[in-house]
Amino acid sequence: MTRRLARPVGITATGQHYPANRVTNDDLSKVIETSDEWIRPRTGIGARHWVEPGQGASDLAVPALQMALDRRGMGAEELEVIIVATVTPDTFFPATACRVQDAIGAKNAFGFDLSAACSGFLYALTTGAALIASGTYTKVAVVGVDIMSSIINMEDRATCVLFGDGAGAVILEPVAEGLGILDFEHRVDGSGGCLLQMPAGGSRKPASHATVDAKEHYVHQSGSEVFKSAVREMAETSRLMLDRNGFVPTDLRLFVPHQANIRIMEAAAKRLELPLDLMVVNINEYANTTAATIPTALHQSREAGRMQKGDLVLLSAFGAGFTWGAVLMRWSC
Ligand SMILES: CC(C)(COP(=O)(O)OP(=O)(O)OC[C@H]1O[C@@H](n2cnc3c(N)ncnc32)[C@H](O)[C@@H]1OP(=O)(O)O)[C@@H](O)C(=O)NCCC(=O)NCCS
Repeated sequence: MTRRLARPVGITATGQHYPANRVTNDDLSKVIETSDEWIRPRTGIGARHWVEPGQGASDLAVPALQMALDRRGMGAEELEVIIVATVTPDTFFPATACRVQDAIGAKNAFGFDLSAACSGFLYALTTGAALIASGTYTKVAVVGVDIMSSIINMEDRATCVLFGDGAGAVILEPVAEGLGILDFEHRVDGSGGCLLQMPAGGSRKPASHATVDAKEHYVHQSGSEVFKSAVREMAETSRLMLDRNGFVPTDLRLFVPHQANIRIMEAAAKRLELPLDLMVVNINEYANTTAATIPTALHQSREAGRMQKGDLVLLSAFGAGFTWGAVLMRWSC
């Protein structure tokens, strides 16, 4: 059974923002024991953009959302809801959505943050769409943003090279019949939680000198376990989206996977029997920006003219939790 929305809802504008500070693999090799020769073939990453100290998630989210509003010709005061997907909010509270609302002047909106790591944007997208499909709202902003440079341990070379900072934003509105989100599937499996996590800083293990000394405020992961689960679940949910809607991979204009590792993306595409030229890749320049990978990839694809209104597009994500999901849509702007 498809998860069809009660009325069609789709993306009507996109935006993005990355920090100016570009850090190449060669730059990293000057400060930690690594090399372009190690990083690039194993991950597909050539560079990442990292914020300057003192910048928070809202500093990237606000210009990304402003770009989407400008593209749509919409004033911030028209927004009714702002959902920010992030695991690196400016502060635990107030939510980053509150900072974005204030900075952008969305004086008629309410908003909240949503925490689902690399699946955050897809969860937020369908949550926002459901608010519109219910008939309650008509203009929802969804932002995926993460400042991963704030939670990586530069002494853990297998992890710190993988992540970047960035923000992508979309505007959701009611769209014409046949366009927008056609179907979606989201899952969690909390038994995988210990394999990709930030162990301290929450209520279970509040920040203390001991947690800081033990470097428990950084990303900890079991890379190979995460790798295998990501390939399996992204491929399976993507396949489910195609099968239960009667499509084959070549019906897609674009496949937009979460950008964690080019080998994960290619392995998932191979399982799907999907031609690789249908897959959107931006990991080479931006690395894994967690909640921002999919909205920025959408923005870049649209700007490059890689998809037009009505094209079939499949989004697929996997992240800490474990969380994962896929969204099938007909592009609507
Ligand atoms: C992290 C990842 C790239 C590691 O790749 P891998 O081929 O499994 O590499 P390994 O961890 O087995 O390490 C192999 C060797 O390279 C070394 N190494 C690790 N990172 C290195 C780096 N940045 N530079 C140079 N050498 C490195 C290791 O120390 C190890 O050396 P050893 O055998 O002497 O101990 C890979 O597991 C991965 O991408 N996993 C998914 C992680 C992810 O995407 N997480 C987010 C999901 S949303």
